[in-house]
Amino acid sequence: MGALDGKLAVVTGGGSGIGFAVAERFVREGAEVVIAGRRKERLDAAVAQLGPKARGIQTDVGDEEQVKRLIDSVPRVDVLVTMAGGAVFGALEEVPMKAWRDLFNDRYFGQLACCRYAVSKMAQGSSILLHSGIAGHAALPNYAGGAGLCGAVNAMGRSLAIELAPRGIRVNVLSPGLTRDTALDWGVPPEQMDAFMGAFVGRIPLKRPGTVHDMADAAFFLTTNAYATGMVIDLDGGWTAV
Ligand SMILES: NC(=O)c1ccc[n+]([C@@H]2O[C@H](COP(=O)([O-])OP(=O)(O)OC[C@H]3O[C@@H](n4cnc5c(N)ncnc54)[C@H](OP(=O)(O)O)[C@@H]3O)[C@@H](O)[C@H]2O)c1
Repeated sequence: MGALDGKLAVVTGGGSGIGFAVAERFVREGAEVVIAGRRKERLDAAVAQLGPKARGIQTDVGDEEQVKRLIDSVPRVDVLVTMAGGAVFGALEEVPMKAWRDLFNDRYFGQLACCRYAVSKMAQGSSILLHSGIAGHAALPNYAGGAGLCGAVNAMGRSLAIELAPRGIRVNVLSPGLTRDTALDWGVPPEQMDAFMGAFVGRIPLKRPGTVHDMADAAFFLTTNAYATGMVIDLDGGWTAV
C-alpha cells in the first residue's frame, strides 16, 4: 500500500528538477500524477520515465486561461504542488523591469491562479504545496526581485492556510536552498558556473547543495502529514540558521 494510493496529484513544473522528483515520489507512493509545463518534449520525456500513472498537460502557468484549462482537465485535485518557475539573477540597474514582472507573473500569480482554480475541486483532507526559495529569509546580492517574490509566496501560503483550514484543505510552502540536478537557468556563463556555485556552497553549513530528492522528501512530508499547515520549510543545509 502506498501512502497516496487512489490520490490524484497535479504537479506544475513536474517535467524537470524538483517538480519531477516530487512527481516521481508521488507515483512511487501510488498516486496518479498530472504534470504541467510549457515544453511538450520535456513533458513527454518525463511522462515516459514516470510510467502509466502519469500524464502531461502543456501549460504556461503565467497564463490564467491555460491554468484554468489544466484544472478543467482533471476530475478532482487531491494534492496540488506548484513547482513551476524560473529565476532572475542580476544587478539592480542591469535587470530590465520586465524580467522581474515576468518572474512575478509566473511564480506569484501563476501559483495563486493554480490555487484559485483548483480549490473548488479539492475535498476535505486535500493539500496544496507552494514553492518559494530561501531568498525570502536569507539576503542575497543580485537577487532583489527573487527575494521579494519568495517573501510574497511565503506570506501567501500562510494566509491561504488560514483561509482554507475551515474547508479541511492544508497549505504549506517548500522553500528550497541551493538545489542541484535541476534544469534551472541561472543565467551564468558556463565558465563562471563553478565559481558561482562554489561561493554559495561555502555559505552552507552542511557544505553541499541539496538534491531534488531532499526536496521531494520534504514535499512528501508537507503534503501527507495531516497536521501540517501554514508552514514554510527552508530546506537548505542550515544556510538560514546561520
Ligand atoms: N534549484 C534551486 O536551487 C532552487 C532554489 C530555490 C528555488 N528554486 C525554484 O524552484 C522552482 C523549481 O526549480 P528547479 O530547480 O526544479 O528548476 P527546473 O528544473 O528549471 O524546473 C522548473 C520547471 O518549471 C517549468 N516552468 C517554468 N516556467 C513555467 C511556466 N511559466 N509555466 C509552466 N511551467 C513552467 C519548467 O518547464 P518548461 O520550461 O518546459 O515550462 C521546468 O520543468 C523554480 O521556480 C526555481 O526558481 C530553485
